[in-house]
Amino acid sequence: MKIDVLLGLQWGDEGKGKVVDVLTPHYDVVARFQGGPNAGHTLEFEGQKYVLRSIPSGIFQGDKVNIIGNGVVLDPALFKAEAEALEASGHPLKERLHISKKAHLILPTHRLLDAAYEAAKGDAKVGTTGKGIGPTYTDKISRNGLRVGDILHDFNKKYAQAKARHEQILKSLNFEYDLTDMEKTWFEGIEYLKQFHLVDSEHEVNRLLAEGKSILCEGAQGTMLDIDFGSYPFVTSSNTICAGACTGLGVAPNKIGDVYGIFKAYCTRVGAGPFPTELFDETGKKIRDLGHEYGAVTGRERRCGWIDLVALKYAVMVDGVTQLIMMKSDVLDGFDTIKACVAYRMDGEEIESFPFDIAEGVEPVYVELPGWKTDMTRMTSEDEFPEEFNAYLTFLEEQLGVPIKIVSVGPDREQTIIRYTEE
Ligand code: GDP
Ligand code: IMO
Ligand code: MG
Repeated sequence: MKIDVLLGLQWGDEGKGKVVDVLTPHYDVVARFQGGPNAGHTLEFEGQKYVLRSIPSGIFQGDKVNIIGNGVVLDPALFKAEAEALEASGHPLKERLHISKKAHLILPTHRLLDAAYEAAKGDAKVGTTGKGIGPTYTDKISRNGLRVGDILHDFNKKYAQAKARHEQILKSLNFEYDLTDMEKTWFEGIEYLKQFHLVDSEHEVNRLLAEGKSILCEGAQGTMLDIDFGSYPFVTSSNTICAGACTGLGVAPNKIGDVYGIFKAYCTRVGAGPFPTELFDETGKKIRDLGHEYGAVTGRERRCGWIDLVALKYAVMVDGVTQLIMMKSDVLDGFDTIKACVAYRMDGEEIESFPFDIAEGVEPVYVELPGWKTDMTRMTSEDEFPEEFNAYLTFLEEQLGVPIKIVSVGPDREQTIIRYTEE
């Protein structure tokens, strides 16, 4: 059996949580492979709304096993709050949430370092989520990290060493802080974590595949936030691309099956960094209002713009996308015309290939398509799609070279249209 991967193709918040929830009934297991509580994945069904940060979005469909893989970074304090809230709302998960012993722990001092580094950068700050993601992955790569499995043996000593090292850095940055409350809730989180199945998830995942079980990997963030291929340095600190599923779960590249690439019918970005198609006018504001484009966790305003096919093509290439999923098409229901960026104009030249740097001097070249001016939110089949909407889909498929298999017309689980397959 192969493992399928669902990934964001833009700057995150494409709607990954919603679609993972919709697809989960077709799978035995759902697994997260990178990122941490910087993610905010929203799911809506039966009039309820949930935002998941560290827990995979397969947790609401029956009794499916969900795995937090080794590539994830976990904050025990935030994890405890998230898991307890789910349990309190009638979704028990202790028996079916398995956590890799190799996942790295976000320490309270990692969060402080995140804030201290951002402050030190001044105007050049990344606009991180402040969850300690960068410093935790830094410690992992520099071979100083603490892992979930460490909590089972001689943990206090390892913790004290890491904390002392971090405090030295904080001191050198003249960063003032009080750790008392943070440490208390963090250690409560460590005790709570011990109640879960702490596993060697690479063995588990490969055994499940050998037994013929199907697994869906849930990406966090998006390809344009990838540490290698995103708009560096305004990126997150993990590999958000498809290859991240291999290293973040311990599956070989030849075990990857379908790659679902998910994108919005337009584009958003939260935090700092270049965004060629960003709109600063009324249209941008209209997209933000209609799409409720505010951070799922932080409430931060998301920057909005037209779809960027130069960046999307690049994402399709590095991820090896086999099926596309278009989200939030309903947000564009009322527009007379819709624009799509098909090239960048740089130094007087038009380029269609994503360049080394998009920080400055990039001017989007647009094509304009007619809007569909139809409320699509109650549609249940592609037979109901207006002609102009079908034309938009065909245009995108031709540009990207991959079929769009799912169209989302609203935030609810039910507002999802699976298109006919032609194989
Ligand atoms: P994720 O991080 O990729 O899981 O996405 P987020 O949850 O951060 O952001 C997506 C937002 O769009 C959430 O508020 C969803 O409830 C909402 N959403 C998802 N799909 C649709 C859709 O098709 N239409 C509309 N209007 N909202 C959607
Ligand atoms: P989901 O999974 C959107 C952005 C931050 C910042 C940059 C680095 O919900 O799509 P970090 O805290 O990771 O060091 O921040 O990445 N960012 C996201 N933007 N969606 C996310 O996750 C994000 N996770 C991080 O805003 O610009
Ligand atoms: Mg999100």
